[in-house]
Amino acid sequence: MKASLKKELIKARNGKYAVPAFNFDNLEMMKGIIEAAEEENSPVILMVTESAALYMGLDNVFAFSLSATNKAKIPVVLHWDHGFDIELIKKAIDVGFSSVMLDSSLKPFNQNVKETLEVVEYARKNGVEVESEIGHVGGKEDDRNSSSNGYTDITEALEFEKLTQIDALAIAIGTSHGLFKGEIKLQFDLLEELNQKIKTPLVLHGSSQVPLEDLKKAISLGITKINIGTDLKIACANGIKDWFEKNEKGYDARKYGRSAIDFVKAEAIKKIRAFNSNNKGR
Ligand code: 13P
Repeated sequence: MKASLKKELIKARNGKYAVPAFNFDNLEMMKGIIEAAEEENSPVILMVTESAALYMGLDNVFAFSLSATNKAKIPVVLHWDHGFDIELIKKAIDVGFSSVMLDSSLKPFNQNVKETLEVVEYARKNGVEVESEIGHVGGKEDDRNSSSNGYTDITEALEFEKLTQIDALAIAIGTSHGLFKGEIKLQFDLLEELNQKIKTPLVLHGSSQVPLEDLKKAISLGITKINIGTDLKIACANGIKDWFEKNEKGYDARKYGRSAIDFVKAEAIKKIRAFNSNNKGR
């Protein structure tokens, strides 16, 4: 069933867990995510990035992700992730997404505020919720590469929260998007202070490849939404490779597709259990 981002995140904060936010790039990944969440009875945030949506075709994504969201037995927040193009964000709002993220985090503070306000105003009119980012989580996010990694500044974050009234705030505390992250050293002191001062639920991007113990600690210090993209892409690819290793002459897309679904599902279940969101769905 379709759920509200903010309500799920506040429930998570009170219940000391984080809602897993998984990216999907194809139907197999989407099915693996939903099957995992249903089996574990976990709320889930089903996310599509702008470039993944353009790859699948906007109308296709809108049709199949909305129907999967409405039919699911657990709360599903259908979320537009890393929106850079405000017109596309507005389309996702019009079509019925639960929430949208605007990523203007590399722009100057005032520009980030201005663009976030434009999205907030449009979203509010349509009963849709908004996530925005302050500080910058760098790395490889789909087709975009950003080498800069700017930790969130507490004063800026407070000002941003006051000016924009967003529903979820993505912060930068040392993760980065993609596979190659170098040494991962999360700034837990910064997170603790942000959590004490910021009322808006806090989001961690770039969480693939981060040790689960670090993610658990981040949850204990206030993170309520954890974004996972790359680890599910790897699982999807491994599912297909594994099937072809066992079926060299195979060709049936439904069969190697099912293997991809199973691998994605297994990886999603690992994260769900680590984030302690299992048995919190109904
Ligand atoms: P990873 O690919 O590093 O998991 O990051 C995903 C993400 O933050 C999507 O918003």
